[in-house]
This record gives sequence, C-alpha cells and structure tokens, in this order.
Amino acid sequence: MRSVTTPEGTFYNGDCITGSSLIPDNSVDLIITDPPYGIEGDKLHRHYNRDESFVTDGYVEIPADEYETFTKSWILQAERILRPGGSLYIVSGYTHLRHILNALHETTLEEINHIIWRYNFGVFTSRKYVSSHYHILYYTKPGEKRTFNTECRFALSEKDEAGGSLNYQDREDVWIINREYKPGKVKNKNELPGALLSKIIQYSSNEGDLVCDLFLGGFSTGLTAIGLNRRAVGFEISPLMFDARIDEVVTCEPGFLLDTALVAKEPGRTLTRKPWKEDEVALLRARYQELIKTGKTQKEINSILQEEFDRGYWSIAKALKQTGIKTGRKSKEQNTIGSFITRHD
Ligand SMILES: C[S@@+](CC[C@H](N)C(=O)[O-])C[C@H]1O[C@@H](n2cnc3c(N)ncnc32)[C@H](O)[C@@H]1O
Repeated sequence: MRSVTTPEGTFYNGDCITGSSLIPDNSVDLIITDPPYGIEGDKLHRHYNRDESFVTDGYVEIPADEYETFTKSWILQAERILRPGGSLYIVSGYTHLRHILNALHETTLEEINHIIWRYNFGVFTSRKYVSSHYHILYYTKPGEKRTFNTECRFALSEKDEAGGSLNYQDREDVWIINREYKPGKVKNKNELPGALLSKIIQYSSNEGDLVCDLFLGGFSTGLTAIGLNRRAVGFEISPLMFDARIDEVVTCEPGFLLDTALVAKEPGRTLTRKPWKEDEVALLRARYQELIKTGKTQKEINSILQEEFDRGYWSIAKALKQTGIKTGRKSKEQNTIGSFITRHD
C-alpha cells in the first residue's frame, strides 16, 4: 500500500480495513474518525451552495446495502488497534447510526458519551425540519485509565461574565461548532472543523500520543493532531483525495496550533481522588476548626485546605461533611463550606 511517513506520522493511501493490519494491536491512544455516510456522499456537494470547483473529487462512498458489514469490519479493527484506556470518537449522521451503534455493541468498547454536534448551514428542506446536527459517539477500550484532561481548556474556577462555569459549558454533551468556510482553498466535501478536532484531541490525548483516523478525507485529523504536537496515522482510500492534501500534512510545522489552541487560564489542581485515611480526616477537621477562628471565609479556608492536603475543592468539602461539619444549606450557626455544592466529586 502506498504510504508517506514523516517524523510525526504515517499516512496510507488505501483501504483502512485491510490496511490496518499494518498497525499493531493496542498501539493507538486516540481514534477520531468520520466514516463515509452511505448516503451517496459522492453527490453530497450538490446540496451545498458553494463554488464546486474547490470541492475535492474522489470521495469514496459505501453503498447503503453494504454499510452494515463495512461498519462491523472497520470497528473491529478500531477495537483491536486502540490501547486499553484509549478513546474512540466516531462522527455519524443519523441515516446509518444504528449500524454503528450495533457494531459497537458487539465489541468490548464502552460508551462514555453520546455527543450531539450542532453545526451551521444545515441542508435546506421545505417540508420537514432542517437537519443541522451530527452524532459523535465517544467510547473507550476498558482495561486502563482513560485520558481525560478535565481542565485542558478551562480551569474549574473559570467563569463567564454571568458567573457560569466555562469548564462546565465546554464539557456539556451538545457542541455548537460551526463548519469552516475556507474560500479558495481545496477542501473535502464535509471536512471536520479544526475547532471540533482540537477539542477532542486536547481532552482525550497528551502531547506525543498517537492519534489515528481511519477515514482521513481532507487529512483534518492528521493536521490538527500534528499541530497540537501529537503523532498521527491514518488511511484514505482515494488517490485523488490523498494527493490533494498529503503535502500540507508533510510540510506542516509540528505544534503549529499550540499558540492558538484554547488553554485554561488558571490551571486548577488535579483532583487526586485518593481515599481519605482516618487520621487525615481528623487532621483536616482540626485544621478547619483552627482556621474558622481566624475569621476567614469558607472559600478561603477551603483554598488553604486544598493546598495543605493536596486535594480538590469537592474532596475537602466531602471529607468535612463526613466529620459532621455540615456542608448542606447555609444556616445561622453552621459553617457553610460547600453550601453551593450542586454535584458530587
Ligand atoms: C466523511 S469523509 C472524511 C472526512 C474527514 N474527516 C475530513 O475532515 O476531511 C470519509 C472519507 O473516507 C474515505 N473512504 C471511504 N472508504 C474508505 C476505506 N475503506 N478506507 C479508507 N478511506 C475510505 C472517503 O474517500 C472519504 O474521503
């Protein structure tokens, strides 16, 4: 199979189902992939109001009656090459979603989230609702700890102007991300936006990790992965598509997206989640009682305790609660640490 290798990755021009035998078992940290939709995608561009001469030819579609078998085959390969604890994100429309869900159900992969990606420029319809979303299925291979960088883009403490948590908003499972309009640039018919790919790559991998896309199309996954200092591997069956985009990947500067990627402004403490020992809880309680006499606010006290006990906010609040220090609603004589708890850590 024809391939191009750079220090950052290898890109194969061929079928990912047979070709993935070139990738060892359990070797990939993250798979992000956007398989053909089986809806005559090779004619998809006719729906979009844009200059057709810039849409790359050569998109290879899968006939609808072969979609089920095709899906089972590539998902088995994805399961094999993903490392335990690795993550898999599949972008899918709704037409053949059931085949993808069924195929995933037959594997050992476990569902983490079912994300809805809402985009602009939905396909125009006159007698039904305009379709403007895709499904993103986020799964993991069990066996080891999954990479999820909770505070990679917004620290838990970062708020918007109305006081809402930016971290919470960024981690909601409905994503509103616009498609990119790149006038005058060669593109795949339905290229994934860099903002969507960066988000997945930042949350679910670390620098140096290997990111795979079994259906490269316009190489958007490969480019974003290298741009964020990850390694990349992938397949594109169409020679036309491969040749149109490979040079961009080969010549891009590793890490070129790091300066512009969203990163937490106030990186917070990583929650340790280690169980509390009895003597530690006793110490915590004693220290809390000492601090409360100083007239500090509950927030300040929690902050000091986080530092001293190397724990997160919620962990401190929960352990104090176990010692009888009420963490529920504010009352006159009670301390109020965690009085605004709305979730469990
Ligand atoms: C939906 S597009 C991927 C778009 C891509 N995510 C992007 O952002 O440009 C699916 C791609 O899979 C390719 N393809 C179809 N069958 C394939 C196969 N068996 N192996 C590898 N690529 C295949 C198609 O030619 C098409 O480029």
